[in-house]
Amino acid sequence: MSKPSTIVILTGAGISAESGLPTFRDVNGLWEGHRIEEVATPEAFARTPWLVHEFYNQRRAALRKAEPNDAHYAIARLQQSYPGEVVLVTQNVDDLHEQAETPSVIHMHGELRKVRCENCWKVVRCGGDVSIDTPCPSCEQAGFLRPLIVWFGEAPFEMDRIERTLQRADLFVAIGTSGVVYPAAGFVRQAKLAGAETIEINNAVTEASGHFDRHLTGPATEQVPAWVAELLA
Ligand code: APR
Repeated sequence: MSKPSTIVILTGAGISAESGLPTFRDVNGLWEGHRIEEVATPEAFARTPWLVHEFYNQRRAALRKAEPNDAHYAIARLQQSYPGEVVLVTQNVDDLHEQAETPSVIHMHGELRKVRCENCWKVVRCGGDVSIDTPCPSCEQAGFLRPLIVWFGEAPFEMDRIERTLQRADLFVAIGTSGVVYPAAGFVRQAKLAGAETIEINNAVTEASGHFDRHLTGPATEQVPAWVAELLA
């Protein structure tokens, strides 16, 4: 069987779960004890910026303790050695793909370790805590930094590039995502329309499972390295 020339991989919170970062949709519908509207909308940031900054400070603190797992490393290996094109799109705001030395990743929902100044519009790296008084390292004005996170109601990053890639995909693989948040949840159908084979890697059945041709069921740290080994063989 011929190997796909363009592979598009979409990752979600499930790939980082075994690195110790919790997924979003827990049983009581809360996100680390908060309602999503309290911490992940532009309205919440306008109303209570200190609470939103504190929430992302805690997320950055959790990320400092996390390390990439075998699934992140396997994807990095695939991107480094596959003879065709491998485009990695993540909904995750952690940088575990980068820490695993993946050559290129599109962060459609933003990046936890970056902030944007709403005064000078510069994006700057930020590993530690941010408050409403933190001055922008570029324009030095305080009170304008916001997390570089795509909140509910905002447009994801790099959609043109992602959609162009999906149009030429031969294989689309969704890993550790529940398939309920659009536009990412629609990628499987876009890839299928383009004629791609579709694979879901997840440890559970999801709302999107019915749209995939193949399912590799189990923890990402087992299923992803096995799938990558099969492709690189
Ligand atoms: N291995 C494989 N899959 C796993 C594992 C694991 N170890 N642990 C959990 N999963 C799966 C779950 O079964 C679930 O389908 O990962 C998925 C996680 O789903 P969500 O928590 O909904 O995360 P995600 O799909 O990334 O969320 C999408 O929603 O809140 C927003 O912006 C946020 O990017 C996020 C988006």
